[in-house]
Amino acid sequence: MQPNREQAWELLNEYNKSDALLKHGLTVEGVMRHFAAKFGEDVEKWGVIGLIHDLDYEMYPEQHCTKTAEIMREKGIDEDYIHAVCSHGWGLCCDVEPELKMEKVLYTIDELSGLINAACLMRPSRSVLDIEVKSVKKKYKSHGFAAGVNREVIEKGCEMLGMSLDEVIAETIEGMRECAEAIGLKGEL
Ligand SMILES: [Fe+2]
Ligand SMILES: [Fe+2]
Repeated sequence: MQPNREQAWELLNEYNKSDALLKHGLTVEGVMRHFAAKFGEDVEKWGVIGLIHDLDYEMYPEQHCTKTAEIMREKGIDEDYIHAVCSHGWGLCCDVEPELKMEKVLYTIDELSGLINAACLMRPSRSVLDIEVKSVKKKYKSHGFAAGVNREVIEKGCEMLGMSLDEVIAETIEGMRECAEAIGLKGEL
């Protein structure tokens, strides 16, 4: 079956209690929806996959992706959703390679959106609404900032997409603006 947005949200909440992880799911959902619309693709499907991509992370961090695949299969969710979700862990926790555009976007923006999130919280406004590509770029290049964010993955992803890092950052910011309220990044603005 192809879960709709409501079913995906329910499933995510069944396995996740952490506010940070729920917000991360909502962030990746928002960015995926934005890219889907930009490319004229299935906005709902891309969003659902973004929303549940880290489904198992709170309860089974050691079996990240593997456990998600198991849970999704148990729920009778279609294999293409499972493939897409797992491919974000390519080379990190599984060997499912991103093949579709949807998968390449997910792979690229997962960690990048985390870095942008951290950069927004450093601003006086604590908002994504007034952040610019160049200030994200500066943080990106400072390796001490959000040190856990794997820049290599992001750059590999940009290459797969045939987009520049600047372009991907700009579109990711745009996607995060569209869900700013839900992800707690409206800040003071
Ligand atoms: Fe993940
Ligand atoms: Fe993630």
